[in-house]
Amino acid sequence: MLLASVTVDRAFVVGPVRRRTFGSFVEHLGRCVYTGLHDPGHPTADADGFRGDVVDLVRELGVSTVRYPGGNFVSGYRWEDGIGPRAQRPARLDLAWHSTEPNTVGVDEFVRWARKAGVEPMMAVNLGTRGIQEALDLLEYCNIRGGTAWSDRRRANGAEEPHDIRMWCLGNELDGPWQTGHKTAHEYGRLAAETARAMRQIQPDLELVACGSSGSGMPTFGEWERVVLTETYDVVDLVSAHAYYCEEDGDLASFLASAVDMDHFIDAVVATADAVRAARKATRRIHVSFDEWNVWYAGRAESRPPTGDDWPVAPTLLEDRYNVADAVVAGSLLISLLRHTDRVHAASLAQLVNVIAPIMTEPGGRSWRQTTFHPFALTARHAAGEVLLTAIDAPVHDTTRFGPVPAVDAVATYEPSTGDLVLFAVNRSVSRPVALTLHPRGFPRLRVVEALTLSNPDHTWSATPDDATSVLPHPNPSATADDDTVRVDLPPVSWTMLRLRLP
Ligand code: AHR
Repeated sequence: MLLASVTVDRAFVVGPVRRRTFGSFVEHLGRCVYTGLHDPGHPTADADGFRGDVVDLVRELGVSTVRYPGGNFVSGYRWEDGIGPRAQRPARLDLAWHSTEPNTVGVDEFVRWARKAGVEPMMAVNLGTRGIQEALDLLEYCNIRGGTAWSDRRRANGAEEPHDIRMWCLGNELDGPWQTGHKTAHEYGRLAAETARAMRQIQPDLELVACGSSGSGMPTFGEWERVVLTETYDVVDLVSAHAYYCEEDGDLASFLASAVDMDHFIDAVVATADAVRAARKATRRIHVSFDEWNVWYAGRAESRPPTGDDWPVAPTLLEDRYNVADAVVAGSLLISLLRHTDRVHAASLAQLVNVIAPIMTEPGGRSWRQTTFHPFALTARHAAGEVLLTAIDAPVHDTTRFGPVPAVDAVATYEPSTGDLVLFAVNRSVSRPVALTLHPRGFPRLRVVEALTLSNPDHTWSATPDDATSVLPHPNPSATADDDTVRVDLPPVSWTMLRLRLP
């Protein structure tokens, strides 16, 4: 048994728990929209064709914002194709995913779905094949009450009230050579700045996100952020970051330590944004929108788009089946995001349904929760109030990809109104259990309300539609709180939530 400790102090606060940390992402990709969200023949479908079982699962997941409609898809998207009478909407080639987009679902349907699911829509504009004017048209269509060509089109299409979308992404991953309309940092920075400036002429208080790098491994990472933020600093609020992790060549130890990379990535983006701030003698800070993060086995066959003359509608794409280790990593990435709550002001688990997703569906049939659903849902439900600084003392082991890594990672939140202190912890050791001691300074006489651990002797177990419940976060009977010391045992390859309460 390894020994580790975590110390928290009621006075040492990083910042508030932000609901927007628990965002997600819906892209017109594979079966995310069609047969995922939208499946008119499904027994639970509503008048718009949206699946009620999926809406229920989204609510249970506790998602806050949902980014839409892409992703790579948005860089070739004509938003006008998706409005008005369905019979007149054109089918188009989607170059990003070598598919056919039927445009059955567009902005109006998505906003109606978002209202039903109780989530905030976060809209991306196309700065790949399009530019300022199309972004302005979409903003006018969505947010102007009426009396103009586009706002009256929205009303004629059945949406009397404005969609009132506050968060807007200025394109997607334009640093990536795979992106339709890929640009240099300077080209993108200028376009993003001019688009943002014009959008603010319509609505000054929008929250605008400039594209950062599509990964910290990009050759332009760092310099891209510096150039883009130098161009856009005064007109954007956030800069995006995207990261996907997977187990490579059976190297579980490195995979479990993926959050080390996410920590470095966030720190580097923040440092670059602050360097631009200093150079510009600005007072305002730019924050991070980590609007794509997850485990993704991008090299596997299920992520390979169709080729040649095959341009299917809603093909099976990126349908990763997640195991217990994947869920532990997803939980640990959320720990990293929460730890940076002072600078990460929004995040989106990519994606929501079927496509690298916590929720899976059969067309016309069953829906189920993947393993990754559980740490997300529990963190979204129970992280509240303030994020506390955690001092972690844990044995260190070597990993091939990330060097020496402490076996335990953790974050704690405290909600003064309820007296709830919640610890989220992972054991990243592949073979050794950890006896964890929590020293909660300034929290006398805590009692354990609930201790749940996600682990399994076989960490490769995955949920299926036939069995999505035999491995769930289970009560951890080792959790105790005496004499102001809290103890809990963490099995190898595990994620744990420990809820404590003041008297
Ligand atoms: O989420 C899948 C894809 O990953 C998105 O379309 C793109 O933005 C990223 O590369």
